[in-house]
Amino acid sequence: MNVIEAKDLTKHYSGKVKALDKFSIEVEKGKVFSLLGPNGAGKTTFIKLMLSIVKPTSGAATILGSNINDPLSRKKIGYLSENHVFPDYLNAEQILFYYGMMANVAKSDIKKRIPVLLSKVKLSDKKNIKIKKFSKGMLQRLGTAQALINDPEIIFLDEPTDGIDPIGRIEIREILNELRNEGKTIFINSHLLSEVERISDEIAILKDGKLIKRGKLENFINDTGSYRIKLVGSKNDLIEEYARSKNIEVNFEKGYYKLGSNDLTQLNKLIDELRSNEIMISEISPIKETLEDYFIKIIGEN
Ligand SMILES: Nc1ncnc2c1ncn2[C@@H]1O[C@H](COP(=O)(O)OP(=O)(O)OP(=O)(O)O)[C@@H](O)[C@H]1O
Ligand SMILES: [Mg+2]
Repeated sequence: MNVIEAKDLTKHYSGKVKALDKFSIEVEKGKVFSLLGPNGAGKTTFIKLMLSIVKPTSGAATILGSNINDPLSRKKIGYLSENHVFPDYLNAEQILFYYGMMANVAKSDIKKRIPVLLSKVKLSDKKNIKIKKFSKGMLQRLGTAQALINDPEIIFLDEPTDGIDPIGRIEIREILNELRNEGKTIFINSHLLSEVERISDEIAILKDGKLIKRGKLENFINDTGSYRIKLVGSKNDLIEEYARSKNIEVNFEKGYYKLGSNDLTQLNKLIDELRSNEIMISEISPIKETLEDYFIKIIGEN
C-alpha cells in the first residue's frame, strides 16, 4: 500500500525558480524512503508541498489517500523541519506539551506520551533542563520526539542527522529503526550518503528539481568487477607475477592489492598459489561502489 503518492508535482517560486519539476514518487507503508540531492535540489520544497506549507504550481499528491489540499492528509503525519528552532527558555517536557497542543492532541494523551517519547529519545533525565543548555544532538532528538507527539503514521524528517556527531547519528538511526519496526513510514531528506546507505529501503536522487533515479539501495551499488587482497606482512612479488601471467590488472595501494578480476576460479587458484608458498592472506573481498561513488558519478553526468 502506498501511503505517499506524488504525480508530476511542480513548484516554481516567484515564477522563475523551478524548485521541483514534474516530480512523481510513491512510498510504501512501513518503509524508510530517502530523498537525496545536492543543496538546492528541491528536497525541502517537496516536504513543504506535502505538508501544504507551500502550494504546488501544478501536479498533485496524496498522503494516506487524502489530497494534500485536504487538512485530513496532515492528521497522521509528523514533521521535523530543517534547522528547527525551539523557544530556548522552555524545557523538553514543555516543548513536547506545546507542540502536542498545536497538533490538536488531547491533553490527557499528551501527558501520557511525553514520558514515553522522552525515554525513546533518551532525554528522560534531561526533561527539566532548559533547552538552551542542550547540545545539537539533544535538540535533534527532541525534534524527533516532537515529530512523534501525535503518534503519526508517516514521519517527514528534513536532514535529521545534519551537524550531529557519529554517536548522535547512531542514536537517531536506532530511533528510526525502532519506528520502522513499529510499522511507521519514514521519509528522510538528506545529503549524508553514508547515513542514508545504512537505513533506507528505497532512495531517490533529485537534482535541479528533477528526479534522476530511484530504487532500492542494491540498484545504486554496483559490483566493480574487482577484488582486493591484503596479505600479512609487506608486499609480495608472487601475487603480481601471478596476476600478470593471467593478464589480470594488478595495483598495490594503501596496503591492498587490487585485482581487476572477479573470476572466482582464477582468484581461488591465486589463493592456492599464495598458500602453497606459505603467504598469509588476511582479507579478500569484492570491491563495491558506494552510494557516494554513485551519487558523485550521476550528479556529475547530469
Ligand atoms: N521561498 C522561496 N522563494 C524562492 N526560492 C526558493 C524558496 N525556497 C527555496 N527556493 C529555491 O528553490 C530551490 C530548491 O530549494 P530547497 O530548499 O527545496 O532545496 P534543498 O534540496 O532542500 O536544499 P538543501 O540541501 O540546501 O536543504 C533552490 O534554488 C532555492 O533557492
Ligand atoms: Mg533542504
